[in-house]
Amino acid sequence: MGTGVLTVPFPRVDGELCAGPFRLSELAERFGTPLYVYHLEQIEARYHAFTHAFREVDHLVAYSVKANGNLAILHRLGQLGAGADIVSLGELYRARRAGIPTERMLYAGVGKTEEELREGIEAGIYSFNVESRGELKRLDAVAASMGAVAPFAIRVNPEIVSPTPHEYTRTGHAETKFGVMVDEGFELYAWARGRPHLRARGIDVHIGSQILEPRPYFDALSRVIAMVPRLREEGDELEFVDIGGGYGVPYDAEPRLVIEDLANVILPLVKSAGLRLVMEPGRFIVGEAGVLLTRVEYVKRLGTKWFVIVDGGMSELIRPSHYDAYHAIEPVVMPGAPHIEVVDVVGPICESGDFLARARPLELPEPGDVLAVRTVGAYGFAMASNYNARRRPAEILIEGDQAHVVRERETIEDLVRGETIPWEKPGKGGRGER
Ligand SMILES: Cc1ncc(COP(=O)(O)O)c(C=O)c1O
Repeated sequence: MGTGVLTVPFPRVDGELCAGPFRLSELAERFGTPLYVYHLEQIEARYHAFTHAFREVDHLVAYSVKANGNLAILHRLGQLGAGADIVSLGELYRARRAGIPTERMLYAGVGKTEEELREGIEAGIYSFNVESRGELKRLDAVAASMGAVAPFAIRVNPEIVSPTPHEYTRTGHAETKFGVMVDEGFELYAWARGRPHLRARGIDVHIGSQILEPRPYFDALSRVIAMVPRLREEGDELEFVDIGGGYGVPYDAEPRLVIEDLANVILPLVKSAGLRLVMEPGRFIVGEAGVLLTRVEYVKRLGTKWFVIVDGGMSELIRPSHYDAYHAIEPVVMPGAPHIEVVDVVGPICESGDFLARARPLELPEPGDVLAVRTVGAYGFAMASNYNARRRPAEILIEGDQAHVVRERETIEDLVRGETIPWEKPGKGGRGER
């Protein structure tokens, strides 16, 4: 297994952006736009780089399904040895359907329902990452009703304000809804002790997403590992420490998080605690391995401002609107004589918040040109919606010299699936019927 040397995804060759042997312009033509394109080799390289950095310790890479839950991607990661960090019955279904063994799955989330706990226990989940007293009590009751033993870890809130680009992606301090404070953590482990239907298997922390420095991980891990000797003394035989996800990727000119640097900082702590290390990377594995192709419909000038109106918007990629996130945007074919203007790249949706980039210097495109929006492999399609009754785009996975359609573009009929008009006469309701 390789060490996963990271190469530039979607390089420009002879003026054209490419994915392996394919020109992105060719893929846009063949499969239509807007279109998500992923490069499998890039995903695999990132998975290998990640797991290689932690090779000195027993570890589990529980890929965070929420970042990109496409079945083909989950399947390949599962083949490579990954587990899954899941947060819903839907993600449990996806990960199982993709063949990831349940004993490599961790069930996270602040609001697990009784049904979710029951199905997770039945499935044989490796651990429930428990976020409140109420949840632990509910887990105990559900496990007891099934005559089962539920493995759990308490998610500790380490009171660390992590350096992420947006407040919505910080999850390690007390103003957020996540985890329990250290003192309460001790109380919960004590409460569970001696209860025959609960098994304290680990301890968990997750401080946020898009973190580019090792230091906050060191701080968070130090905090939870400091709890371990007392828990052991009191009788818990903990097996793992889960340090969550959040490993950042460069979207603009920010420095890359070097995963070996992170490993160098945290491995001594993990070794000293003698625990298995669980990590839940999402973005790091898939973020850079995806582009969104979108075609220019119109270019217009309003007062002094240029707008490039494209066929993909916040329904396909909500990150710019929701997190004010930056995504690099480039023409897939470099124009002969570029004419740079400062433009807003906007979608067709009826919201002023529908933009992919604002005040961005860009080679002024023409209608019909295709633009590539970079670094959308994570939280791209996964957060796509049908807002404005738009069909969610197709997803293409490049593997060697093959372009697989790993998700078809939704059809118009998909948009009304499950809906009924109760007073409509039987036989009515076909496409275009009045
Ligand atoms: C508990 C947990 N684990 C892992 C992740 C994955 O984060 P990322 O994709 O930044 O690695 C998240 C994301 O929010 C999360 O909430």
